[in-house]
Amino acid sequence: MAGSRCAPKNVTPSDNDAGQGDHDKGGREVRSGLRLAVLFGGRSCEHEVSVTSARSMLAAMNRDRYDIKLVGIDKAGRWLVSPDPAKFIAQSEVAGSDLTPVQISQSPATDDASGASPQTLDVDVIFPLLHGPFGEDGTVQGLLELSGIPYVGSGVLGSAVGMDKDMAKRVLDAARIPQVPWRMIRRIDWRRDPDAILDGLADEFAGTIFVKPANLGSSVGVSRAVTREERRAAIDEAAQFDLKIIVETEATGCKEIECAVLGNDTPQASTVGEIIPASEFYDYNDKYVDGRSRTEIPASLDENIIARVRELAVEVFQAVGALGLARVDFFVGETEQEIYVNEINTMPGFTPISMYPKLWEASGLPYAELVDRLIELAIERHSERSDLKTSL
Ligand SMILES: Nc1ncnc2c1ncn2[C@@H]1O[C@H](COP(=O)(O)OP(=O)(O)O)[C@@H](O)[C@H]1O
Ligand SMILES: [Mg+2]
Repeated sequence: MAGSRCAPKNVTPSDNDAGQGDHDKGGREVRSGLRLAVLFGGRSCEHEVSVTSARSMLAAMNRDRYDIKLVGIDKAGRWLVSPDPAKFIAQSEVAGSDLTPVQISQSPATDDASGASPQTLDVDVIFPLLHGPFGEDGTVQGLLELSGIPYVGSGVLGSAVGMDKDMAKRVLDAARIPQVPWRMIRRIDWRRDPDAILDGLADEFAGTIFVKPANLGSSVGVSRAVTREERRAAIDEAAQFDLKIIVETEATGCKEIECAVLGNDTPQASTVGEIIPASEFYDYNDKYVDGRSRTEIPASLDENIIARVRELAVEVFQAVGALGLARVDFFVGETEQEIYVNEINTMPGFTPISMYPKLWEASGLPYAELVDRLIELAIERHSERSDLKTSL
């Protein structure tokens, strides 16, 4: 994603300060002294969001339990460490002349010390706190998979499916999970004959539509469109960001509801929250710049609807093959028949205003314990796979 195409950012810093405690909810003791690398920044438009997420997480987590290494990924994709981690994380983006490159080995660690060059990141677990392409889409997960280091969150498949709205929607359709009517347009077809596509859309989508790039997040490139010319402009806009564009029916008269999911094989759903956007829809400014949108936790919804949303959140998580954590977003109307899944985010934000940690706080799991649990889940998942046969 070209940096120049990204919206301007002014992400507010965090002074979030949450929970404490030596045991997670299940009473399990969390390992101490674990060498943890937090990856933040990244090559996507959500670079600054990720930096804010990392700053917020660092402020809130049980830092004494971990030997934490901050690894910033700059917009060019370089992995960097700093001699001054506090300053490193206080900036809005990963940049500076005092940074030194670091890499992880693509070979799993072995007993001999052959791979232990000074530039090699040698840690027990990695938290890839990266949003969007080259972070949340399976690319970094593939690298971490090769390195043999346990990492937080979904693997290659779940991350890739979750990131690509076209693939995610196909998977959810196959699992009979309710969504608004949608269609994918290939940019190559759009550029070849936009009017034919607009004609087709006029037949298929009578009212207001939403247009979005298939592979982004944070509302970058998302527009609402009514008239033919608005539709044209909206598709042109989304086509700047992706080769695949999603067009879908507007969910009218609905609330935007979010549910946090945590776990591997038996994922649990949190209480649900409502986003009340300050603008026409929950756009980038609303999310990160002026912060005028509000959240309501728990959302004021009928009990049956809340129960159904939580059930669907777990179904979505399992359908896309997510692991560790994900936030599942919905449009919810007045009745159980009007619950539509909007999307799954396999690495949701951890900024001060982010729903994922807030929903768990409201469900009785403080931020610090949530981070401990996510790290435990990463290690559990890794050890579960370690006894798989790799030869006959
Ligand atoms: N079909 C829709 N109906 C109503 N609002 C929508 C629809 N699709 C998107 N939106 C609005 O646009 C925002 C961003 O769209 P979303 O699909 O969540 O993209 P992103 O992955 O960038 O968060 C949503 O939070 C919502 O406010
Ligand atoms: Mg969204």
